[in-house]
Amino acid sequence: MRVNENFGPKDFDRLVDEENATASRLIFTDETIFKMEQEKVFAKAWLYVGHESEILNVGDYVTRQMATDPVILTRGEDGKAHVLHNACSHRGAIVCNKDSGNARGFTCPYHGWVFGLDGSLKATADDQSVYEGKVDFSTLNLKKTARVDSYAGLIFATWNDKAPDLGDYLGDARWYLDMYHNRTPGGMEIIGEPQRWIADANWKLGALNFGADGPHAVKVHGPVTVAAIGVPMSLVRESLTGSPSVSMGNGHNGIISQVPAEYHDQFPPYLGSHPDMVELYKKHLGPEQNQFLSYLLAGVQTMFPNFSSIQSLMAFDPMGMPVSFMNIRVWQPVSPTKTEIWNWFLVDKEAPEDFKRESMLSGIRSFSVGGTFDQDDSEAWSSITRGINGNIGQQGDVNFQMALAFRDKTIPDFPGPGRAYPSNYAEVTEFDVLLEWQKYMRS
Ligand code: FES
Ligand SMILES: [Fe+2]
Repeated sequence: MRVNENFGPKDFDRLVDEENATASRLIFTDETIFKMEQEKVFAKAWLYVGHESEILNVGDYVTRQMATDPVILTRGEDGKAHVLHNACSHRGAIVCNKDSGNARGFTCPYHGWVFGLDGSLKATADDQSVYEGKVDFSTLNLKKTARVDSYAGLIFATWNDKAPDLGDYLGDARWYLDMYHNRTPGGMEIIGEPQRWIADANWKLGALNFGADGPHAVKVHGPVTVAAIGVPMSLVRESLTGSPSVSMGNGHNGIISQVPAEYHDQFPPYLGSHPDMVELYKKHLGPEQNQFLSYLLAGVQTMFPNFSSIQSLMAFDPMGMPVSFMNIRVWQPVSPTKTEIWNWFLVDKEAPEDFKRESMLSGIRSFSVGGTFDQDDSEAWSSITRGINGNIGQQGDVNFQMALAFRDKTIPDFPGPGRAYPSNYAEVTEFDVLLEWQKYMRS
């Protein structure tokens, strides 16, 4: 199978080999597959567009991407969130060029057509009578997504009018989203602006890594983790090999790295969390969710297709205590071998201001454009692109065969929903992201 063939449903049976837990390298490099993904994945799935806390008031807006399409997320006069294609219905110019703001509507800079917060065409620059009644202006609103909805403050949209309800789409993943994003009465809020940077890698590499790649963590991040949390390498290794990975269904997957019991005397419960917030978690979440949070080293997950999050804790002052942070990100496809990473930090709304700042700093130093963890991951992902993009390179597979050893080893009495496996090393959940991708690509 070579570049620029037209791929049909049967080709995707081979491009992702479920039985052998491998995938063709082409799916990370090929232009035709990349174009097909736009139609078959990104025009069909629910995509993350923003957070409720970013558009609290009528007229608030942020400009975002839904894969290769620019959009505006607004709070309309009806109080609802709207997602508008940020391309004018006249000639297609970008209507809103700012990253965020508050407005009564949007005026296209090219010929001055004016649109409301819900995308409706309010006025053209010239009196519409000059069109002599030959144009139906009611058909010239900004294109809107078919659906917009939110869960745990996270706003998703889809172009697909046949998409399931967001609640059904997220399914069992809601239990985990509650654990990380919905654990105090006020929920979470975004702190700061999104960071954006380009990685020389296919968007799926990031989504898979967060879905999640346990085995890389000791090798790539081990020494930084030891230095930044102040724990021995043995704790990091045992945490990864002995903690659960979870397949939540519908392509949503992650790992929950827990501090092993024999280290609990060195690691007090809820280390890194603010004590006032811990009291709220205990009231707002169930005992199983609290159990996971109380000894959390890292909770990493991907909501299919390209929304990921990580909660972990870091201290960059050798005398200081680690501080917990919550990072969310979207892996925006730019080309088969380029991805724009959009990166935000969240914090519980009720947390004191100084803790919010500390939490953001902890996150910025680890998971951001200059963060130690992202720099290390980006190098690995761009090296994969260099390794597999040549004539010989494209002929091989990408290997997830740890899954062969673990796929039948589900944890029978796991306290959360979904299928859980006994190790972050299992590679089952990471490969599961690709199995979901395969379903979409076959359709
Ligand atoms: S392209 Fe927007 S008004 Fe002409
Ligand atoms: Fe990593």
